[in-house]
Amino acid sequence: MQTVVYDLKEQYRQGIAAAAEVIRTGGLVALPTETVYGLGADAQNEVAVRQIFAVKGRPQDNPLIVHLCDAAQVDELAANVSPLARRVMQAFWPGPFTAVVRVKPGALPAVTTAGLATVGLRMPSHPAARDLIAQSGRLIAAPSANLSGKPSPTCLAHVRQDLWGKVPVILDGGPCAVGLESTVCDLTGEVPVVLRPGGVSPEMIAAVAGDARVAHAVLHELGEGEAAPSPGMKYKHYAPRAKVTVVQSDDRNRLANHINSLYDKGIASGERALVLCLRAHMPLYGGREILCLGETPEDAARTLFGALRQADARGVNAVFFEALSAEGIGLAVMNRVIRAAGFDLVRV
Ligand code: TXA
Ligand code: MG
Repeated sequence: MQTVVYDLKEQYRQGIAAAAEVIRTGGLVALPTETVYGLGADAQNEVAVRQIFAVKGRPQDNPLIVHLCDAAQVDELAANVSPLARRVMQAFWPGPFTAVVRVKPGALPAVTTAGLATVGLRMPSHPAARDLIAQSGRLIAAPSANLSGKPSPTCLAHVRQDLWGKVPVILDGGPCAVGLESTVCDLTGEVPVVLRPGGVSPEMIAAVAGDARVAHAVLHELGEGEAAPSPGMKYKHYAPRAKVTVVQSDDRNRLANHINSLYDKGIASGERALVLCLRAHMPLYGGREILCLGETPEDAARTLFGALRQADARGVNAVFFEALSAEGIGLAVMNRVIRAAGFDLVRV
């Protein structure tokens, strides 16, 4: 299949119009959002949605998020939405927040929701995503635009790596502002439950809702027989080819010394190793191969997925990651990196 890329800085109107036509005619479009790039199709077109699963190699039991551009669309898709749920959606939309609510029977094909009684709804803040939904006149189901198991794409180059020749249109909106996928939050109960942390933190949700819980599986491996509160939690995710090790300590020097000794052991046994760290800590790893994640936890969120892809591109075998404090966006970074590490967290 021929893939056409529209640079939205120069071809905004043509790009949105072409993508809207593809969506209306049952095709797939890679589109930018403020979190990560999405692989979108008409959420109510069963044949189109099936193609998303086929292109990504995504397990059929992992439901898709449906993207809206107008809060009134919630009631087309959802039933029994509580006043609390509405308050929380209103507080964080448009933005990196996905509300899990009860689906209205018959509103969506079972393939979109993976047959669940709930659906994840999100109103993105990215203008191109919203204009595409509005102009196509469709609700857009969109998982992240990576092949299943790869890090989510946060810029055009990543989308090209995974989807070139597999979709007719890619909209290039430049690098994504958040860099990690949206917060997925179950709003069907009395207390919101964060199933996947993202740009909207549990602290922010609690400030609106009075309280918020974080599902245990956000930072812990599912126990044997333990049910996944979100199907996505069952799968190894965000995995580069390199082995990732997350090292945690209250003492920055002890942490760096431990990473350095693991790094040097790896090098001695013929591996290529790489340290991912914040700029201020770079001097602690003198002489070793480093990829700087920026200055702040927000920078680390933006750069993490690109860094994991970079590690593979360089042929690295061992990646060492300095654990961040699991507050604010740090919780989302830790949730992704701990999965990339297959839950290999070392405390020193
Ligand atoms: O930021 C994002 O959310 C991006 C952009 C494109 O919007 N989309 C995204 O979709 O990350 P995806 O499919 O890669 O991740 C959606 C996650 C999956 O882990 C899925 O299991 C979970 O949300 N999910 C979807 N619907 C759910 C539901 N009804 N109940 C529980 N979890 C759900
Ligand atoms: Mg994904």
